[in-house]
Amino acid sequence: MNFQLTEEQLAVQQAARDFANNDLLPGVIDRDTEQKFPKDQIKKMGELGFMGMMVDPRYNGGGMDTISYVLAMEEISKIDASASVCMSVNNSLVCWGLEKFGTEEQKEKYLKRLATGEVIGAFCLSEPEAGSDATSQRTTAEDKGDHYLLNGTKNWITNGNSASVYIVIAQTDISKKHKGINALIVEKGMPGFVVGKKEDKMGIRGSDTHSLMFTDVKVPKANRIGEDGFGFTFAMTTLNGGRIGIASQALGIAAGAYELALKYSKERKAFGKTLGEHQAIQFKLADMATKIDAARLLVHQAAWLKDQKKDFVKAAAMAKLYASQIAQDVTTEAVQIHGGYGYVKEFHVERLMRDAKITQIYEGTTEIQKMVISRELLK
Ligand code: CAA
Repeated sequence: MNFQLTEEQLAVQQAARDFANNDLLPGVIDRDTEQKFPKDQIKKMGELGFMGMMVDPRYNGGGMDTISYVLAMEEISKIDASASVCMSVNNSLVCWGLEKFGTEEQKEKYLKRLATGEVIGAFCLSEPEAGSDATSQRTTAEDKGDHYLLNGTKNWITNGNSASVYIVIAQTDISKKHKGINALIVEKGMPGFVVGKKEDKMGIRGSDTHSLMFTDVKVPKANRIGEDGFGFTFAMTTLNGGRIGIASQALGIAAGAYELALKYSKERKAFGKTLGEHQAIQFKLADMATKIDAARLLVHQAAWLKDQKKDFVKAAAMAKLYASQIAQDVTTEAVQIHGGYGYVKEFHVERLMRDAKITQIYEGTTEIQKMVISRELLK
């Protein structure tokens, strides 16, 4: 067993750390307050190769492993989880799904531009009445011969307005239940496709979350991913990988808050000594650091299994379940260590605490992860 990162992985980690500190940190509080999408920063992330890290260089990607991806995700999430969710969806749900299951034509047309960040992708599964219960799709894709007619509404879509390419899950044949579902590539600008209202969120407020409406949108058959009826398996398989991305985001949020709390504990004095000299704070820091290390091991294990082409479904769900839980614990303790300063925006930890919550909800809630894990255990 080797816990040592390679030279390449360390270089990716350092590049992501530098980018996060130099480009994301300035303005992160304002973007959160104003709910402003980090458009210029995402463009630069594309130029630096962070938007299609694992995509084969044939399709303009970085050709990197999943370990490099989670290292970069952790560093970027320490500073700006709004930027990292955009990165995670583009890498894990859109690029990975298209590369694994798309046709050569789809890869040429869409993947090549998504992998460089020239355009951004969105993954559209959730609906007003189908969140965790993902098989209950109400959006319909009626088979019209050479095209599908798409009708319905999608909710809480990350990159909802900033994306140009949308992978939309829809029901074609309800009698076949989940085997009658398709995944279609929809382009912004297709007649009948309207971006709906932007959500006013608790956290990740810089990210761009919208509802989407489709009314008689004609989607060519060439834009279907996989065989007829493959859409649900496509969504589930893609989400298995996506959960590694969100687990690394949760890990980064926790690690970012911990690093701030550690620094503050060395600087702030109370009762004649630094906070770090008080056992009450020492024990908090010890618990936080231990939880972060445990989460990182789970995240790296899931990433490693994926790289080795081994079954990573359970490992990814465990990593997301645990990392998102400790992100709650660690960010709450980081606010506590900062006292009154922790409750105001300037010190960053209150934002990280708000950002942490979503990691227990999207790409499968905590309860869904427990379903996935227990099903794997009882197989
Ligand atoms: N991997 C691969 N296939 C899977 C799977 C998995 N983890 N889980 C289920 N499947 C397959 C099953 O094998 C089955 O296929 P077959 O019939 O061909 O064998 C099919 O899916 C249906 O499975 P179930 O009968 O088990 O379906 P279910 O309704 O009981 O439950 C579920 C499935 C696991 C609960 C699923 O609905 C689920 O994962 N729900 C959560 C959805 C989710 O994560 N939403 C997040 C939205 S995306 C997002 O958040 C992106 C963003 O913007 C950040």
